[in-house]
Amino acid sequence: MILSAVKGMSDLYGSRAIRWTKMEETIKKIVASSNFTEIRTPIVEELALFKRGVGESTDVVQKEMYDFLDKKGRHIAMRPEGTAGVARAFVEHGLGLNEPLPLKTFYIGPFFRYERPQKGRYRQFHQFGIEVFGDETPQIDAELIFTAMRVLTSFGIQAEVHVNSIGCQKCRADYREKLISYFSTKKEGLCEDCRNRLEINPLRLLDCKVCDPKTRCADIPKITECLCDDCRGHFEQLQRSLTIFGVPFVVDPFIVRGLDYYTKTAFEITAITGGSQNAVAGGGRYDNLIHDIGGAQMPATGFAMGLERLFDLIPEDFFELPQVSVGYALSEDAVDQLVAFAKNMAGQPLNFFADYKPKKLKKALQKADRVAAAFTFIIGEDEAKEHLILVKNMETGEQKTFAQNDIETILGFCR
Ligand code: HAM
Repeated sequence: MILSAVKGMSDLYGSRAIRWTKMEETIKKIVASSNFTEIRTPIVEELALFKRGVGESTDVVQKEMYDFLDKKGRHIAMRPEGTAGVARAFVEHGLGLNEPLPLKTFYIGPFFRYERPQKGRYRQFHQFGIEVFGDETPQIDAELIFTAMRVLTSFGIQAEVHVNSIGCQKCRADYREKLISYFSTKKEGLCEDCRNRLEINPLRLLDCKVCDPKTRCADIPKITECLCDDCRGHFEQLQRSLTIFGVPFVVDPFIVRGLDYYTKTAFEITAITGGSQNAVAGGGRYDNLIHDIGGAQMPATGFAMGLERLFDLIPEDFFELPQVSVGYALSEDAVDQLVAFAKNMAGQPLNFFADYKPKKLKKALQKADRVAAAFTFIIGEDEAKEHLILVKNMETGEQKTFAQNDIETILGFCR
């Protein structure tokens, strides 16, 4: 029986892996230029963290967790998202006390959600995310949206920013009541989940993909009409700052996000091109999460971008793939010299590798063609006698013989 990868999880190899790495390098360069430093947290956390952080009534926690009991009976979960783990690390290591604030972090890594796999939606997927702690300003929210857009435009991707404010505990209480009384008269049209969560968490109804009240019902109350002065002021300044950053946006009063920790700013970025899974990034402010998981009151804000979705939006020829050069020995006697030559070529700017198994010239050139080598290096019987090496430019056909240890001149020929 041939074993295959677990459903919804995939392998990364070959030219796709090379392009993926280049995508990650580009992202890291952009965030490093704005002083975000990397944070790596474990792939697994205690399930309780996600229940408390992400929210018990969210789809992510209710339906999509990969969770298990470890050998000591602890209830563990594969992380479905990054914010809760980073927040846990922030509290656990006292980063709010020991590091200068605001603390600007980023991460890239795998995440796990038990969803129905389809294009752009996987059970193991990857996110690039940013979390900032200790900055309550709307300007930092705007900078994060600007940073997400910088990443997208660096790959030539056009996208739309949708922003909303989902208020604070104070103004959201008011909104909850309005939603409950609005939907109480429309229960027949709601799916079972939404009927059950109407009283517990009515905001989740605006995010439901099953009965989708957002597109079906008219005149749903808007949170933007219930915001308190502080939240309204924050939202207005966010919009002014986005304009200064030069980021076009639309206000969408029904963005609530699928996770429970958000306060004030909530946003989603959708690619203009691409299919149905075009939500490429999402995030917002979460000023109560650090406190909710046992830390001090600490303003925080962030976003995450789905890397599979980003990758699919990047044109195939966007990254130049590196060309290789390859060396062959045509006889058993020449192999030691090929080894010494490989040692001298290590670290040189030619992406050289040696194929140590001796072979006939015709076979060697065929193999060089298969890897689309830029230059082929041959040590035949005659060359071996005098410690020479033949170098062939595979594009022009030009070839020349050099002393094997004259790396400088060889590199000059290959330039
Ligand atoms: P999220 O909206 O759940 O937010 O996920 C962010 C992005 O991850 C989505 O926009 C999408 O591109 C990608 N994504 C989510 N699920 C899948 C999947 N099953 N397959 C492929 N891609 C997926 C969060 O995770 C928050 N932690 C974002 C955040 C950070 N908020 C504040 N800080």
